[in-house]
Amino acid sequence: MKISLTTELDASLEEAWDALHDPDVFQKVSAPFLRFRADAATGFPDRWKSGNTYVVHASALGLIPMGSQEINPTTTNEGMRREFRDNGRGLTGALAAVSSFQHTMALEPSGVGPTTLHDTLEFQAGILTPFMWLGFRLFWAWRHAKMRSLARYWRSADATRWDSRYSGKAMWSGKANAALEKAVEGLTTSHALDVGAGEGGDALWLAEQGWNVTATDLSLQALKRGEAERQSRVTRDHLPRMIRWITLDAVTDPLPTPPAQYDLVLSFFGHGPTEMRHGLWKAMAGVVAPGGRLVIVGHSPRDVDAGVQRPPLEMMFDAAELREFFASRASSLRVESWQREQPGPEGEPVMVADVVAIIQF
Ligand SMILES: C[S@@+](CC[C@H](N)C(=O)[O-])C[C@H]1O[C@@H](n2cnc3c(N)ncnc32)[C@H](O)[C@@H]1O
Repeated sequence: MKISLTTELDASLEEAWDALHDPDVFQKVSAPFLRFRADAATGFPDRWKSGNTYVVHASALGLIPMGSQEINPTTTNEGMRREFRDNGRGLTGALAAVSSFQHTMALEPSGVGPTTLHDTLEFQAGILTPFMWLGFRLFWAWRHAKMRSLARYWRSADATRWDSRYSGKAMWSGKANAALEKAVEGLTTSHALDVGAGEGGDALWLAEQGWNVTATDLSLQALKRGEAERQSRVTRDHLPRMIRWITLDAVTDPLPTPPAQYDLVLSFFGHGPTEMRHGLWKAMAGVVAPGGRLVIVGHSPRDVDAGVQRPPLEMMFDAAELREFFASRASSLRVESWQREQPGPEGEPVMVADVVAIIQF
């Protein structure tokens, strides 16, 4: 008999994948209905390893012994889909009644921010199968509710920090950045990747021009706002906007596929320590299609003199840094300073500048 359940988890694909490998998470989502004890004297491993076999002892509510079972994880990791399969079997006690057991947990981005877990259990327990089905079905609903509530603890410290920044009122204007239209001038609309898309002002504008957009950000809350705005615009004018929203850390996680490469990759105001921004630039350069364009825009370090609020100087970059970084990686490189007006501390108009790099590969 089979049980299939699908759940949306408020974590990135990599964070959720990591959690599925964590024996602590396995125990937390099972408690208090089933409690597990490792057979090994050394206790549970730090991480389940694909290809290994683990023996655990189970008890209902921590009181009634249920016997022992094997956990035999095998994992696959293809593109944006991760699969964790356990074909463990019951060894002793009531668990030995389960003659076949195939549990598959597949993860993939939902496309609207969270990560989707497709969870399937197929098992046989002879004449006990229908009774066990009921027990497993209730237990599976519990596990999913627990996973949903635990997911926010799987988030990285940086993601949690950005999520809390996006939990108050809107951070940005919702409009496209001033430099965007000029930076993509002359391009034929195709696949675009926005890295650090925030609330999605640029992604929405690109989609409205006909781009098929993948908008990524460390903050899931920011992307949820982007998707809510997309839905409300579509409801208003019935014009489709092709955007998938994927939460990830662009420095450490693989960038989304398909496509394998994008004709336009952009990062607006991806400020951070040198190591972080260089990691970001390297990752982005790696997914630009031959002949494609990478656009990087930052606040000019000189804006600090204009009295407007800016990230600390060590988080910003200038034209020289961009030129040096991309000189040997790109086929052509244009780095310019583009002026624009923004409200100053008293609301008065102030001239500021963006450092704009247009990089062809
Ligand atoms: C200053 S905001 C800019 C947002 C948007 N590009 C805009 O111009 O409105 C920077 C964004 O980068 C995101 N971010 C920071 N580090 C990141 C990382 N390692 N990977 C992906 N996004 C990141 C933050 O969550 C934030 O939304």
